[in-house]
Amino acid sequence: MHNQLETLRQFISTSNYIVFFGGAGVSTESGIPDFRSVDGLYSQKYKYPPERIVSRSFFMSNTADYYDFHKARLLHMDAKPNPAHIKLAELEKIGKLKAVITQNIDGLHQSAGSVKVLELHGSVYRNFCMECGLNYEVKFISGSEGVPHCSCGGVIKPDVVLFEEALDDDVMVESIMHIKNADMLIIGGTSLGVYPAAGLLNYYRGSKLVLINKSETPWDERADLVINGSIGEVLNAIVL
Ligand code: OAD
Repeated sequence: MHNQLETLRQFISTSNYIVFFGGAGVSTESGIPDFRSVDGLYSQKYKYPPERIVSRSFFMSNTADYYDFHKARLLHMDAKPNPAHIKLAELEKIGKLKAVITQNIDGLHQSAGSVKVLELHGSVYRNFCMECGLNYEVKFISGSEGVPHCSCGGVIKPDVVLFEEALDDDVMVESIMHIKNADMLIIGGTSLGVYPAAGLLNYYRGSKLVLINKSETPWDERADLVINGSIGEVLNAIVL
C-alpha cells in the first residue's frame, strides 16, 4: 500500500487535468449503502427486487411502492461528505481537478464543496412535476405522504435516471470532453458494470489511470495503478 500511495502522490503532483469518475462506493463511508456489495441495496429483501423498483416501468405502474423505496432507501438527507468527497473538492480548489463525474444521486460532492460535478444518474435533490414541469425541493418529497403530487395534480418525479431511461445528453457530452482532456483519471467506488456510464472510460487517452476500489473491477487490467482499499482512507492519505 505504501508504494501505491507514493505512486498516487507522484501521479497527482505531475497532473494538471485530473478527472474523477465515481460511484456508490464513494458514499459508503458516509453511511449510504452501495448497490452490489454483500451489504448493498440489491442484496436486501424488499417486496419487489430493488433492481426492478428503480426502473421507469416500475415507477409508472407502482408509483406508491417506488416512493416507499425512494424515501426509505435513496434519500439520505442527513449524510455528510466523507474524506473522499472532501479531498476531491480540495483538489479542484487548487486547480488540479477539473471535474467529478458521478453515478451517485446523493449530492455529497457538492456538499463537500465540489463545483464541477457531472451527475450521470441525476440527483434526488431535483424533482419535477411530470405534467407541468414545476420543480420541487427534496423536502417536499420527504415530507409528503405516499406519492407526492404537484399543485396542478400531476405526479412529481425525482430527477434520477431510472433503468430504461436515457442519460442526459449534455451531461454525457461534457463528461466525454473532460475525460478526453484528462491527463489523469481516478476511478473509485464503482463496480463499473453499468452502461452507458462505464463506457465513458473508453474516452480516456492518458497514461495515469488509477482505480481505487474495495473489490476487483473489469477495468483493473487496463489501469496504471490499482489500489484495493477504502477510497476515503486512500484519498485522505494524500497531502496536498
Ligand atoms: P456498485 O454498488 O455497483 O459498486 C460499488 C463499488 O464500490 C463496489 O465495487 C464496492 O466494492 C466498492 N466500494 C464500496 N465501498 C467502498 C469504499 N469505501 N471504498 C472503495 N470502494 C468501495 O455501485 P455503482 O458502481 O455506483 O444506477 O453502481 C452503478 C449504478 O448501478 C448506480 O448508479 C445505480 C445502480 O443501479 C441507477 O440506479 C441507474
